[in-house]
Amino acid sequence: MKFIVTGGAGFIGSHVVDDLVSMGYQTHVVDNITTGQYRNINRKAIFTGPTDASRTPDEWLDEDTIAIHCASQPKCNVSLYAPINDMENNYSVGVKFITKCVSRKIKTFGFNF
Ligand SMILES: NC(=O)c1ccc[n+]([C@@H]2O[C@H](COP(=O)([O-])OP(=O)(O)OC[C@H]3O[C@@H](n4cnc5c(N)ncnc54)[C@H](O)[C@@H]3O)[C@@H](O)[C@H]2O)c1
Repeated sequence: MKFIVTGGAGFIGSHVVDDLVSMGYQTHVVDNITTGQYRNINRKAIFTGPTDASRTPDEWLDEDTIAIHCASQPKCNVSLYAPINDMENNYSVGVKFITKCVSRKIKTFGFNF
């Protein structure tokens, strides 16, 4: 069993990754480093570079993967002055990532909104 955590360079996601790594799980971080920071990424996690959650490569997702979706733009004030961008990043990207997970037969999915 292994994990993929989107938003793993952000506040919530990085703490999730730290816990998974401390429990010994192979953990892959997907983050586009918009609000997240490189220094938040656990050094024992696998991170191959800024990647949008909707563009997660298929080969990173298989039946043995548990997906935890924490990638988002979380600030309410930002969503008020840029609602279209917010909808694209938080809704459309989320739907695309979930659809990709379903197509790759991922059985367990968690998300944080
Ligand atoms: N911080 C809290 O107290 C709190 C509480 C409850 C729920 N939440 C929810 O948890 C989620 C994460 O919040 P946070 O505080 O960790 O925010 P954060 O900004 O610290 O982390 C979000 C991460 O997602 C990344 N990201 C954004 N869009 C992405 C995309 N399209 N593809 C890949 N990566 C992307 C960012 O670079 C960042 O690393 C939000 O949905 C938020 O509403 C947060």
